Amino acid sequence: MTPQRERRGAELVAKYPEARSALVPFLQYCQAEDGYVTDQAIADAAELVGITPAEVESTASFYSLLFRHPIGKHVIQVCRTLGCMLGGADELREHIRTRLGVENLETTADGAITYEEVECLAACDRAPVLQHNLEFVYNVTPEKFDSLLETWRRESPAAALPAE
Ligand code: FES
Repeated sequence: MTPQRERRGAELVAKYPEARSALVPFLQYCQAEDGYVTDQAIADAAELVGITPAEVESTASFYSLLFRHPIGKHVIQVCRTLGCMLGGADELREHIRTRLGVENLETTADGAITYEEVECLAACDRAPVLQHNLEFVYNVTPEKFDSLLETWRRESPAAALPAE
């Protein structure tokens, strides 16, 4: 573990009654530094909070805001649960995949946009729903997505996700 990462890890652990509670914030910190959760970050996190790398891996794969592969500056997460399916999410997801030229959990060839299909985003009454860099977009149609995509491509956020 680098000294800087060790220092930040210790700060995070000190914030909680149990070291393990610092796991997700520490992984988010590592992700912000490296662009994704690397194997080294998994090992560092295990060492920091005193659990096995397999346990860290299982936490990292559970949280939809942690990525084990490089992500773009835009992360688009589209709900694939029943409420959104009934509202047309299947057609929308098909449209987005074709438009971006990616499958679930892939990043566009230019490295700019990561696409992910996620479970219910708790906004079922405004289906279909997606999040762009954690910002909700409701009642998304293929046409609305195309228009938003143009706007997003013009923007250049520093990073898709918060550091912690
Ligand atoms: S089913 Fe999509 S937000 Fe709940």
